[in-house]
Amino acid sequence: MLEVKITDMKAECEVFFIASVEEAKDKELLQEMNFKDALFVQASKALYIKIDSQEKDVLREAASKAIKAIKKLPYRSAKVHLCGGKEEVQAILMGLYCGDYAFEQYKTQKEEKVLREIYIDCQCEKIEDIVYECEIIASSVCFVRDLVNTAPNEATPEFLAEVAQKEAQRLKIECKIFDVEMMKKEKMHSLLAVARASSQEPRLIHLTYKPQNAKAKVVFVGKGLTYDSGGLSLKPSDYMVTMKADKSGGCAVIGIISAIAQLGLPLEVHGVIGAVENMIGGNAYKPDDILHSREGKSIEVRNTDAEGRLVLADCLSYAQDLNPDYLIDLATLTGACVVGLGEYTYAIMGFNEKLKDQFEKSAVQSGELVAQLPFNTHLKKLIDSKIADVCNVSSSRYGGAITAGLFLAEFVRKEYQHKWLHLDIAGPAYIEKEWDINPYGASGIGVRGCVEFAKFLSEEK
Ligand code: BES
Ligand code: ZN
Ligand code: ZN
Repeated sequence: MLEVKITDMKAECEVFFIASVEEAKDKELLQEMNFKDALFVQASKALYIKIDSQEKDVLREAASKAIKAIKKLPYRSAKVHLCGGKEEVQAILMGLYCGDYAFEQYKTQKEEKVLREIYIDCQCEKIEDIVYECEIIASSVCFVRDLVNTAPNEATPEFLAEVAQKEAQRLKIECKIFDVEMMKKEKMHSLLAVARASSQEPRLIHLTYKPQNAKAKVVFVGKGLTYDSGGLSLKPSDYMVTMKADKSGGCAVIGIISAIAQLGLPLEVHGVIGAVENMIGGNAYKPDDILHSREGKSIEVRNTDAEGRLVLADCLSYAQDLNPDYLIDLATLTGACVVGLGEYTYAIMGFNEKLKDQFEKSAVQSGELVAQLPFNTHLKKLIDSKIADVCNVSSSRYGGAITAGLFLAEFVRKEYQHKWLHLDIAGPAYIEKEWDINPYGASGIGVRGCVEFAKFLSEEK
């Protein structure tokens, strides 16, 4: 991670965010050079980045652009001239930290890192705390990006479990790992069916952060499909590529609990991750199979590519036994959600309007794009099964993100329905082009929003 120092020291170069060239000390030069978006003036060693407003979203993206530009220059330190109040400074810091990310694990030739220090000179109250908090959240975002970007031949369910265990040791929190035998005892036959054809055994990961002053109990549940080939309802080749990112929800849950623990928030937080690989083989589960879930409901399988909901059904069941005040699942659940909302926005679903609104507010505050998708009774009928309690796919081709959410709702007990939120992060979890403060590949989406929501819960009276 970059080091951000609060100092009035002079750095080797400077960054200015400007609304117009009039504001720049190199005004004439910029005019001459026809300044548009970004320009580095060698003589004064100043990088100018154009901003259209001082809105947080604009500043965050501008800061990300700035860090990428400075990294190409031969300077060890850069002074970033901030603008606005606390929230604007937070946005700029997040843009700097997250924009600095690069995934180079598999490159023999790594890019040389020259820039190491960012200086800020800020009059904001408690600026040290702001920097400290941003660094923790951004490092969790980048940790999740690394994990999701890790190739599926390396990032197996067992690998995810080991990473979770290591992170738990570092944070001094609890981590329990369930193997197949333990999951059989738990009657997680829905999850186990998805996992069966893979040579990589599944794992259920349960992380616990339990401070003494906990105000509420939050359980995060993550879809951790380390690879989704579609199973026997095999995906076409073009759709299979990038399915290493089907573990994004699960990885985000590790990052979220890590950030919350490092921030020391007064909440009891659990992370439950279903780490599974969906493959084909002679013993694969198949369309027409009937599965018996941990909750006791029977499921008719009509498509083995709708596997995430089968894994989550058992994870949600396990999660409710922890008696949460809030139950939030994160999953790259449906292509339909990407079709509906585009690649940059994730969906919030649930039965509790107030809870959805509160979460939406936190997510937006954190810089993530979200939209609520509404449940209704007509869509619910589409997952009725003639021979089992519920069917794993809808009988209609429309409304797929919501019918998937309604399938999950079947496994949320009545007393937890108003405590539950489902986040379909299929769109923004992994995109093969740079956007906002995100690089090519994994974004670490969900971390900023969920940590902001946890902060809201811990500040609530
Ligand atoms: N992992 C996919 C959803 C997905 C699609 C995530 C694109 C990210 C990008 C999920 O398991 C899946 O395959 N869903 C099916 C459901 C269908 C069979 C009802 C889908 O969306 O096509
Ligand atoms: Zn699938
Ligand atoms: Zn999937």
